[in-house]
Amino acid sequence: MLIAITREPSPSLGACELTHLERQAIDLDLARAQHRQYAAALRAAGCEVVTLAEAPELPDSVFVEDPAIVLDELAILTRPGAPSRRGEVPELARALAPYRRLAQIEAPATLDGGDVLRIGKTLYVGRSGRSDEAALVQLRAIVTPLGYEVVGVPVLGCLHLKSAITEIGEGVLLANREWVDTGRFGDATIIDVAPGEPSAANALKVGERLIYPSSYPETAARLSGFDVLYVDASEVIKAEGAVTCCSLILTQRGASAT
Ligand code: GLY
Repeated sequence: MLIAITREPSPSLGACELTHLERQAIDLDLARAQHRQYAAALRAAGCEVVTLAEAPELPDSVFVEDPAIVLDELAILTRPGAPSRRGEVPELARALAPYRRLAQIEAPATLDGGDVLRIGKTLYVGRSGRSDEAALVQLRAIVTPLGYEVVGVPVLGCLHLKSAITEIGEGVLLANREWVDTGRFGDATIIDVAPGEPSAANALKVGERLIYPSSYPETAARLSGFDVLYVDASEVIKAEGAVTCCSLILTQRGASAT
């Protein structure tokens, strides 16, 4: 059984952090409806969905991917790069404690989970504006004893590494080469986002299925052969979010088992 941890969109989502996007009005009711559709897609993909309560004082708290990184062996609480997001961590710690032992990235290092792409036993870490070298060093110290390799990857022009590249199948990556050098990912097959859809590289792989935004039809046309569940994610996209950002997916196992 897979567990998907999500969090209700904050009533203050419209005041979210924005780095590369102009602010647009966010329809909160629509965001909530889209979040329910996203949860339904997670269930259709085989997840039990755990939804945390909204946090009015934390605009970006729907993006649960950033305060934690979950591996089979443990969960690592991050120290988000945006100070406004650091208050998101304690609730994620409470939510993850039943499933994993917890480690923590310590100040002054900063790391967003959106910058961490796990492919097998390699953690690619985006060197974005949110995640720094000190965090990479701490992460390496935590996971190297567990057999993981940590590889820093420069990211330019977008918020997070997973804005630029995600894994959509074994050895297959969906990418925007303007934002990341795909040569860093070995001999993986690269599917390029369509011209005019720069933000289309973020897909959420859940088991054998993909959850993917309906906003990128030309890139979607390149995903034939994949089992895709489409969701309307327009409101979180306005908040510089994406489909991976809105959940933490983990296999069910108790913290004591790690
Ligand atoms: N609005 C998402 C973020 O900046 O973290």
